[in-house]
Amino acid sequence: MAELIPGPSFFIGKGDDTDLISFGSGQPDLPPPPEAFDALKQYNGFKYGQIQGEESLRAKLAEEYPGAKPEHFVITNGASEAIDLVLRSISKSGGKILLPRPYYYSYPFVVGYAGMTAEYYDLGEGGKINYEQFADIAPGCRAVLINSPSNPTGTVQDIETLKKVEALCDRLGLYIISDEVYKDLIYDRENYLLHGKHVVTVNSFSKTYAMCGFRVGYLYSPDEDLVSKVVEMKNHTSMNTSVAAQVMALAALSVPASYVEKHVKIWKERRDMIYAGMLELGLELWKPEGAFYVLPKLKNSGRVVSDLYYKYRMISYDGAWFGAPDHVRFSYALDASKIQEGLRRLKKFLETDYRAY
Ligand SMILES: Cc1ncc(COP(=O)(O)O)c(C=O)c1O
Repeated sequence: MAELIPGPSFFIGKGDDTDLISFGSGQPDLPPPPEAFDALKQYNGFKYGQIQGEESLRAKLAEEYPGAKPEHFVITNGASEAIDLVLRSISKSGGKILLPRPYYYSYPFVVGYAGMTAEYYDLGEGGKINYEQFADIAPGCRAVLINSPSNPTGTVQDIETLKKVEALCDRLGLYIISDEVYKDLIYDRENYLLHGKHVVTVNSFSKTYAMCGFRVGYLYSPDEDLVSKVVEMKNHTSMNTSVAAQVMALAALSVPASYVEKHVKIWKERRDMIYAGMLELGLELWKPEGAFYVLPKLKNSGRVVSDLYYKYRMISYDGAWFGAPDHVRFSYALDASKIQEGLRRLKKFLETDYRAY
């Protein structure tokens, strides 16, 4: 049997060989808006930028959130840094952070780096929050994390549930960290924006504008004390986010809505293809309503990922990395013809190697 693959970083940078099909990393294969590159033609900056982020970008972002001001935003190195800075800014020794499970694989690590402990609420049928369970565990936590649409399930939480979570956390005085990196990639309805004085919204240019490598994200919070703690911490750690990348991000925000609409249409077509294809193969999975992931049940998932890679030249991610053992995550951020070929290889695997597990 081939060696088990240790974690997602094993695959970073792989996937460009011609016969390798990558359902691995969650990075869009669709192009960023050309306007983002055009903005660089005029660019001649080389000095340190504002730690909090370029004023022009924060002002433009403030227009997207009712009642927001530019000083409520911090521009970060992707959503990743925003989540890390928030957790470390609200950290209290022994503090608990309530995470969804399955979860984005970095959450438990960054909670630990912030000196806190992760508690979990399990996503129930269809990937939805079981509010009763959530409300039982939330008291006693320092913050709760909501990720809708979700990585790795692609599920979107119901607006009614999100409103109940909002009211509960408000009553208990808990921070809500709302990781909305997929908020623009919802297929069937508008995103519901969690809001309130303890809500910290985290977002990114990585997914909506396909700019992951440029590393621009942000957090938005009306809690000015929290924002200044975050800025102080960033001042003494990474300092400013790349100014050139922020100029590109600002240009991306000015493109017509049709850029995102066109992409969402493509994501939805691919979702339909992979979801139907997996059902046809007899797999059990939740139907994604946003983002670009499916998480079918597959027993012995570590071995599946290893066999698919070494024997079938396909990259997939072990559900165990996301708190979902016996599941495998497939990102459908790849061309339809590759999805079809991947489904053919998966069929062969299910009919041969997997039978012998
Ligand atoms: C749910 C979620 N949050 C945060 C991130 C990190 O995104 P960024 O590239 O903006 O750091 C990702 C990336 O895949 C993600 O899926």
